[in-house]
Amino acid sequence: MSDVLQKIEDAKRDALEALAGACDLGVLEKVRIEFLGTRGRLTELARSLGSLPPAERPAAGQAANRAKAEVAGAHKAALGSLPSKKTGPPALDVTLPGRAPGRGHEHVVGRTMDEICQCFAKLGFSIALGPEVETDYYNFEALNFPADHPARDMQDTLFVGDKLLLRTHTSPVQIRTMEKNRPPVWIVAPGKTYRRDDDVTHSPMFCQVEGLAVDKGITMADLKGVLTAFAADFFSPGTKIRLRPSFFPFTEPSAEVDIACVLCGGRGCRLCKETGWLELLGSGMVDPALYGFVGYDPSEVSGFAFGIGVDRAAMLKYGISNIRHLYEGDLRFLRQF
Ligand code: PHE
Repeated sequence: MSDVLQKIEDAKRDALEALAGACDLGVLEKVRIEFLGTRGRLTELARSLGSLPPAERPAAGQAANRAKAEVAGAHKAALGSLPSKKTGPPALDVTLPGRAPGRGHEHVVGRTMDEICQCFAKLGFSIALGPEVETDYYNFEALNFPADHPARDMQDTLFVGDKLLLRTHTSPVQIRTMEKNRPPVWIVAPGKTYRRDDDVTHSPMFCQVEGLAVDKGITMADLKGVLTAFAADFFSPGTKIRLRPSFFPFTEPSAEVDIACVLCGGRGCRLCKETGWLELLGSGMVDPALYGFVGYDPSEVSGFAFGIGVDRAAMLKYGISNIRHLYEGDLRFLRQF
């Protein structure tokens, strides 16, 4: 073997040995410079080949290139197998800002219930509450649903005992309030209600705000006036309402109350099914039969009552199409309010 080929071979062997023993970035870099740098051993050897007799140059040139490639490859492999910073424990940067605990907020249904109550508080109503587990007497009997009356079927009741049930509406609070107070009575009663019902607009648990006003000389005009003021306050100023004849055992006459469609303003669209109106609540003049249960004199007082579907009101106000969104607890939905 010629002298220069031997030198190339020696340099390569030394380089590979040094790389095999290198255990950190600094040593690897030193080895690279020592053999492959501009003044490195292999670089100098390759440069010196020009002075060889022409016949020896090709073989020596190939040997030098092969040696450089082999050392460069070994250097790259050694770099790759150094213990990486990424695999160690993450460095703790104590100067980074801390992660703030997430802040919750009121649920959209609770907020809507408060907003509704506020509208009536401004009109002089006070708040009354009643139990969610209710007796047959308050939920039906004293509200003029006699036993076996077909009107009981209007509401699919969830029973928890013989004469004990989950209230199907907040109307029992009417009776409880009148039992405890002499007229005048002006109350709203917010709360949870339950029915065996489950689709895109009905949930087995939902919320209502009941309203009751019993005083001297109350007429249906008062009912319409109060609800007109409510619609303007809760939805937007000037929101029109309309009363449609309806039936409830505890009101006479009874009226379903619609508001002008919040989307199209009454011109007709998909939301209002081209009618221009959206159903919002049930209402009516307190049926005098109720006064018999609570000891009021129907010749002295009269009153109106209404029951607002809170979930429905929230869906209309915020354009929510599926009632399940309200009760699934999906934070991506709830954070929007
Ligand atoms: N309780 C009725 C319902 O849940 C609503 C209502 C309340 C109707 C008060 C008239 C008066 O459907």
